[in-house]
Amino acid sequence: MTGSKVTETNYSHHDPEFAQDPYQVFAEVRGKCPLGHSEQLGGFYFPTTYDGVKRVFSEYQTFSSAEGAGLPPQVVKFFPVDLDPPVHTRWRRVLNRFFTQEAAEADRPRIQGIADHLISAFAARGSADFVNELTRPFLAMTTLPVVGVPDKDRPMLSEKLLWMVHNRLFDFEGWVKRYGEIEAYLTGLMGERRSAPARNDLLQCLVDEEFDGRRLTDFEGYQVLILTLFGALDSTSSAMSGALYHLGVHPQDRARLLSGEVPWSVAIEEFLRFTTPIQALRRTVTVEETELDGGVVKKGDFVLALNGAANRDPAKFSDPDQCIISRDAREHMSFGSGAHVCIGRHYARVMIEVCLKTVLGRIGDYKITDGFVPDYTSSEARALKTLPVSFTPRPA
Ligand code: HEM
Repeated sequence: MTGSKVTETNYSHHDPEFAQDPYQVFAEVRGKCPLGHSEQLGGFYFPTTYDGVKRVFSEYQTFSSAEGAGLPPQVVKFFPVDLDPPVHTRWRRVLNRFFTQEAAEADRPRIQGIADHLISAFAARGSADFVNELTRPFLAMTTLPVVGVPDKDRPMLSEKLLWMVHNRLFDFEGWVKRYGEIEAYLTGLMGERRSAPARNDLLQCLVDEEFDGRRLTDFEGYQVLILTLFGALDSTSSAMSGALYHLGVHPQDRARLLSGEVPWSVAIEEFLRFTTPIQALRRTVTVEETELDGGVVKKGDFVLALNGAANRDPAKFSDPDQCIISRDAREHMSFGSGAHVCIGRHYARVMIEVCLKTVLGRIGDYKITDGFVPDYTSSEARALKTLPVSFTPRPA
């Protein structure tokens, strides 16, 4: 500890109890010295104001990603998230080409087909678990082909990745084992593609890329592929299931969306703010000391940028704990900010819109099952574990 002003807590984003309602502790800290500190996970600081979090994301010279963005630190560096500019910029330029708004829009018919297919599988039953039968498989089915993973390997990979996202702290051996298996699998895919016919996916982009006059190694390709998979799957599914939960409890908001009173694009930004699927990302202080949210952090300190705290700062969003679908939430911090701002955000927005519109269009009278108590996963990602619903059965 620095001995400076700070609000002491035992917060950890990996603690399942905090994951149920992290916003309470953020509000408590914000109401005292808004720089929080916790001895958990080896010790870290966390700003709780919107401006404090935004500064950590924006000032990479002071708050570096080069020591890793996960807490506790990951075994392997992920690219480009664990890099600072200018090296980061070089990688980002390669990937930006692939994740444009135009590419996401052009993929809409395929994404729509997947939403229709999944809903058809349970429409006649009149009940479903939206998380495990819709939003999670939807993300795997939409994203893995874009990355370049063959469809036959989807169940294996989705299962391993989901397990890894949520068990990093609870079963380290199991985590390292799966890590090794995924590394072998993804480096193998890179190797195979080098001598296979070209396709239009991220894998091909990585195989073809000339980086400082040389091709990427299979391992470098893997460092990008694994991040994209981790980054995409759970987070987008979480935004969808959180939005479906809100719409299940607030039928008046469904009506406002269906009538066009509230544009989808407006509501989706509010769903992203309110759900904050990625709650926390780490940075490491590189300067001797700097002031942050009324306290002081020093060289080598870990700082957790809490997207969730920024999104619930009442100085930025009035009545922040209410999901108000007509508000202008475009400045939310759910996709981060600065150099690392989420590269998949255009894809995420298209997928969320297609999913929500299709549900409301086809089984719009759904009800959340009586007695349902939301249960959220813990880690950098926070997501509903299940969302049981019933509705009038429709022909598939
Ligand atoms: C609602 C859904 C999503 C949320 C909330 C989300 C959130 C984030 C956040 C907060 C970051 C910043 C990381 C940092 O500052 O260290 C990020 C980066 C990233 N995201 Fe997303 N993401 C989502 C969807 C996606 C999708 C669909 C993809 C890919 C198809 C993706 C791929 C990535 C990648 C590759 C990065 C690293 C960018 C960089 O370091 O420059 N994300 N995401």
